[in-house]
Formats: sequence, structure tokens, C-alpha cells
Amino acid sequence: KRWFAVIGNPISHSFSPTMHETWLKQLDIDASYIPIHVEQNNLEKAVESLKLLGCSGWNVTVPFKEDIIPFLDEIDDSARGIGAVNTVVKTLDNKYVGFNTDGLGFVESLGSILPEQNILLIGAGGAARGIAHAFNSLGYTQLTIANRTLEKAKVLVEELQTGQALTLEEAENTLDTFDIVVQTTSLGMKTSEASLPIQLNRLKENAIVADIVYNPLVTPFLEEAKKNNVRTINGLGMLVHQGALAFSYWNGTKPDTDGMIQQLIEQIG
Ligand code: ATR
Repeated sequence: KRWFAVIGNPISHSFSPTMHETWLKQLDIDASYIPIHVEQNNLEKAVESLKLLGCSGWNVTVPFKEDIIPFLDEIDDSARGIGAVNTVVKTLDNKYVGFNTDGLGFVESLGSILPEQNILLIGAGGAARGIAHAFNSLGYTQLTIANRTLEKAKVLVEELQTGQALTLEEAENTLDTFDIVVQTTSLGMKTSEASLPIQLNRLKENAIVADIVYNPLVTPFLEEAKKNNVRTINGLGMLVHQGALAFSYWNGTKPDTDGMIQQLIEQIG
């Protein structure tokens, strides 16, 4: 029987096992998916063990997304640019290939968007990097990265060879030029209004505002956006779509994402 896993530390909070087990059952695929807690200094041994025990593919979560790279046979373009892997696929010739579906999953969670739309990413950390590379690889080049530390935004723009870097203040003052605004900083999880990375007073009419955080489902940033009657998107779509992409790499078929988002809303609710 084929089996899949997710490795991380901590791992008990992960929604991936519920998600993948549900999809495997729905699609009548005879396989299972298990969470594995790995100690910091045991990553190499854990990867060797997964290979030895015939794991068909696994997800990688914090804190191993970068560190796992040397233990894999090949790295796909989606992971190379970002320097982080969240999905490992065992190929037919027994090679272990690293992919990154986080950023691509995020872009899919937005639904249909146009290549010429102006996109503002707030933050320049690991999450922002993944999303910026995904947008870029899909041909969305009107990218602006705004960050508290401007230098980090500049580094990312240079790496992408497209787009522009702004301070948070500059982004706030030119907010009405952006069609899609994405909050990727760690402020998303805090609950006081003082924790907004930028104020949303100048939000464009019909803008889309997204936050990559899914717990809480409505972050302070999204709450503020909702006051402007714009479409808001929480991080649940990213979680589900990154999982769905991994699932399709392993099983050759796409699972039901909308139903899974509903199921998780009820669970997190
Ligand atoms: P992740 O991997 O989740 O993206 P990270 O790499 O630590 O986490 O990045 C955190 C992001 O949140 C950075 O863009 C950080 O800004 P700096 O580069 O200036 O540190 C941003 N961030 C964290 N705390 C912030 C705050 N109080 N105000 C504004 N931005 C903040």
C-alpha cells in the first residue's frame, strides 16, 4: 500500500493529514497519509528512513523546508528560486524530487486574475518570497514588494528581476494603485488593530485583499479591508490549494478544493 507523510516540528497542529486522508477516501485511492514529528538534528536520518520505508511522497513544513534540500536528488524550478521545498515526490525511477507548492497554491486561491493587475505584497520574509516567485513564474510581473526593512524588499525585487520595492509608508500612500493586496507578515496572527502593517484608507474600489493567515479566519487586516466592502481572501485557500497541488503530483488527479475549504472552515470556525 502506498503511503504519504508530512514532517515538521511541531506537527500535531497540521491540517494536512485530515485533508489528504479525506481526499484519498473521496477518490477511492488506497493509500494513507501520516504526520511525523522530527527532532531538529534528525532530519537527515528521518529522510533516509522515509526512503527506506518506501514513502511515496511527503510534505515538509517548518522548520525543515530549506534544510531538506541537500538530502533530495533533484529540485524543481518551483523550489529552486525560493530555496525551500514543501513537497517531495518519489519518481518512477526512484528519485526524490523537491517542489514548492505554497506560492502556486496561494495564486490558485485567488481564482482568476489578469496578468496586468497591480499586485502589492506586504512583507519580504519566507512566505512573501514563495508567493513573489510564484506570481513571477506565472507571468504576473506587476509586482510591488513593501516591507518594514526596505533593503529586504529590494533584495527580493533584484532576485525576481521585475517589480519595485517600497517602504510600508509609501505603499500606504499609493494604495489606490493596487488591484490585489497581499498581507504576508507575521502581524497577521495578532489581534489588536495597532498591529496592521499598513492602514487601508486609500484602498482601491474593487480591490482584492488577501491574508495568508488562516487562524483566525478573519485577521485584523481582513477585518479592516471588509469595512471598505472589497473582496477578502483568507489563508485557508492557500493551505488547501498547496495541498491539492501536492496531491495531484502524487496521485495524478486533482482533489475537491472548495469542499475542503468548507470542511476546514467548520473545523476552525
Ligand atoms: P515568514 O517566513 O512567515 O514570512 P519571516 O521570514 O520572519 O516570516 O518574515 C516576517 C515578515 O514580517 C518580514 O517581512 C518582517 O519585516 P522585516 O523584514 O522588516 O523584519 C515582517 N514583520 C514582522 N513584524 C513586523 C512588524 N511589527 N511590522 C511590520 N512588519 C513586520
